[in-house]
Amino acid sequence: MDKVRYGVIGIGNMGNGYINDYNSGNIKGGVLTAICDVNEAKLNAVKERLPENCAVFTDPEELIKSGTVDAVVIATPHYDHPVLAIKAFENGLHVVIEKPAGVYTKKVREMNEAAAKSGKKFMIMFQNRTNPLYAKMHELVAAGAIGEIKRVTLLITDWYRPQSYYDSGSWRATWEGEGGGVLLNQAPHNLDLWQWITGMMPSKIRANCHMGKWHDIEVEDDVTAYFEYPNGATGVFVTSTGDYPGTNYFEILGDEGKLVVTGGQLAYYKNKMNEREFNRANEVSFAIPGHERVEVEIPKPEGPLGHIWMMNNFFSSILHDTPLYVPGEEGIKSLMMSNAMYLSGWLDKTVELPIDEDEFLAELNKRRATSNFKAKVSKDDVVVEDISKTFMK
Ligand SMILES: NC(=O)c1ccc[n+]([C@@H]2O[C@H](COP(=O)([O-])OP(=O)(O)OC[C@H]3O[C@@H](n4cnc5c(N)ncnc54)[C@H](O)[C@@H]3O)[C@@H](O)[C@H]2O)c1
Repeated sequence: MDKVRYGVIGIGNMGNGYINDYNSGNIKGGVLTAICDVNEAKLNAVKERLPENCAVFTDPEELIKSGTVDAVVIATPHYDHPVLAIKAFENGLHVVIEKPAGVYTKKVREMNEAAAKSGKKFMIMFQNRTNPLYAKMHELVAAGAIGEIKRVTLLITDWYRPQSYYDSGSWRATWEGEGGGVLLNQAPHNLDLWQWITGMMPSKIRANCHMGKWHDIEVEDDVTAYFEYPNGATGVFVTSTGDYPGTNYFEILGDEGKLVVTGGQLAYYKNKMNEREFNRANEVSFAIPGHERVEVEIPKPEGPLGHIWMMNNFFSSILHDTPLYVPGEEGIKSLMMSNAMYLSGWLDKTVELPIDEDEFLAELNKRRATSNFKAKVSKDDVVVEDISKTFMK
C-alpha cells in the first residue's frame, strides 16, 4: 500500500474541514475515497468538492463494510465516536476519532479494548498538542525544567459561543444528543493538554458545573473545579462559553520554577534554588529563593500543523509504523477528568478518580431520560460553519 484509502463519517462542520484539508493538497499518504452522513442534505452540499470516485454513503456501517477504505475518520456527535470506532476495528480498519473520545468512560474503555484487539492504528484528534507552545511546555516539564509540580492553573474562558451556536444543531448542548456542554465540546482540548503536559492524573476532583447559566441550554456552560494529586499538587480549572472577552491562561508551577502560556507566548521562570530545599535551609524571614526569566526558543513550524499534521502522522504510522503523536487510547484521560467534574457537581461532593463508571452512567442516564433532544437527524441541520479559526487555543 502506498496510500491509505480513508473515509470520513459525519460531514458537518468538522467533516467539511477534513474535505477542505484533503483538497488543500497538504495531505500526504492518504486518499479520500468515501464519505458518509446520515443527513443527505449534508452530502449534497459537498458533492462538488469531492475527489473523483469518492463513494458516498448514508449508513456508516455500509461505509465501514464497503471495502472502499482502509481507515475511517469519525466526526459525528460524540456519543457515536466509540460506537462507530468499535465497528470499524471489528471490520479491520484503522481509526481516527474526533475529540472527545466519547461521552462516558465506560464505553470508551470498550473502544480501547476493541482497538487493542484489532491491532490497527488508533488516533484521537487532539491537534492542539501540535501547537509549538504546548509542545515546548510538554518537553520542558518532561525534562524536569520546573521540578516537581505543585500547582496547575488553567483559565480557559475564551471559548465564547452565542445562543445561535447552540441552536445550530439539534444534538448540541443536550444530555441525549451531546452528553454535555463546554466540558465535552470545547474544553476536552484543554483537559488533554493539562494531563499530557503534567503527565499526571488527579486523584480527587470537586467541581461546580452550572447548567444553562449564560444560554438557554440544559447542560453546563460554566465550570469551576478544584483538583488534588497523589503528590500533594493541586489544580484550579475554570471554563465557560459565556465570558467575553475571555481568558486563556495556563500555568504550571513546580518547586524549580514555572511555565505560563498566555496571549500566544510561553514564559519560563527558573528558580535559583529549589523552593522546597530553600524553605528547609533558609533562616532569614522574608527571604526568597530568587528566580530568573529564561528565554525559550519556540521552533517555527515548516508546514501546516493541526489537523493536517495529525492526519499525515496517522498515515505515516500506517504506512511506515511511525509512532502516533496522540494514541487514541489517551482520550479516556481527559474524559475521566470531565466525567469526574460532572459527577462531583451532580452529587455535590468531592469524587475520587478513577470514578465509579457505573454510577456516572446511571447519573447521566437520569438526565438523558428528561433531555430536550428529540430527533437523531433534524431537517434543519444543514448549516455548515467554517470552524477552522476556532481550533487552536
Ligand atoms: N478537533 C476539533 O478541534 C474539533 C472541532 C469541531 C468539532 N469537533 C468534533 O467533531 C464532532 C462533530 O462536530 P461538528 O461541529 O462537525 O458537528 P455537526 O453537527 O456540524 O456535524 C455532525 C455531522 O454528523 C452527522 N451524523 C450524526 N450521526 C451520524 C452517524 N451515526 N453517522 C454518520 N453521520 C452522522 C450529522 O448529520 C452531522 O452532519 C464532534 O464530536 C466535535 O467535538 C472537533
